[in-house]
Amino acid sequence: MNLEFITQENKDGILYITINRPDKMNALNIKLLQEIKQVVDAVQDDKDVRGILLRGSGEKAFAAGADIAEFQSFSSDEGARMSRDGHAVMNALENSRIPTIAAVNGFALGGGCELAMACHMRVASTNAKFGLPEVGLGLIPGYGGTQRLPQLVGKAKAFELSMSGTMIDAQEAHRLGLANYVVELDELESTCLGIFKRISSKSFTAIAKVIRSINDNFNKEIDGMETEITFFGESFSTYDFKEGTEAFAQKRKADFKRD
Ligand code: COA
Repeated sequence: MNLEFITQENKDGILYITINRPDKMNALNIKLLQEIKQVVDAVQDDKDVRGILLRGSGEKAFAAGADIAEFQSFSSDEGARMSRDGHAVMNALENSRIPTIAAVNGFALGGGCELAMACHMRVASTNAKFGLPEVGLGLIPGYGGTQRLPQLVGKAKAFELSMSGTMIDAQEAHRLGLANYVVELDELESTCLGIFKRISSKSFTAIAKVIRSINDNFNKEIDGMETEITFFGESFSTYDFKEGTEAFAQKRKADFKRD
């Protein structure tokens, strides 16, 4: 698939995925979302990628939602398919073994907010605005918003935000736990890179297990505690565990190897 609506660029091991529809507030059409999934899936085993930074082009929007013009005449079946396919994209980000950060500038509404929530972390610039306005269109969030918003902000606030469609600013998003950090727009990228830097000195193998374990805490089909126990045990037979514990004992920096 050629990339029509996003761009990708590896800068020093960080894969930048940029949503590139600035004239449409980076609205997420179906092909655009499939492009994100394609790129995320393709780099999972790429040892030259240690972080994925997802962002919107321009200064106005991360993404102002699913493309309303595209789905306006969809039938129920088409709507359900759009949602199911969108879920697969969000799940690819959430389950990525490479850490993902959404750098949120401007509007992150509807599907844009859901896309940001599917990333492992969110850094917001002071001009960011978050919201799930779907009820204002006679819709509900369809890309996992009803599930991920309560995970991040708690049930009561999730009810309030998704029932009212209220937009919240970056400070409020930070206060609620939706955004990890709020920074000035010109510090957005460097803040994300700082997080990736702190992560990248650690064991990639262990980080991938942390991602699975935390996600399984919210997976109703799998007991996340059991996942943690299994992976904790498995860690003991990895190179990185041996190296990490030896380095600690020898008071030196660990030299981890990516599997
Ligand atoms: N889907 C499709 N097109 C969208 C869009 C979306 N979700 N959000 C914005 N656009 C388009 C607008 O139609 C407009 O296109 P045009 O120039 O061809 O008319 C362009 O992006 C600029 O948007 P505009 O509304 O003129 O900008 P604004 O600054 O006045 O308002 C928003 C910005 C984000 C508040 C407003 O665009 C908006 O409410 N968007 C929809 C948000 C939403 O409901 N998302 C959930 C969808 S399920």
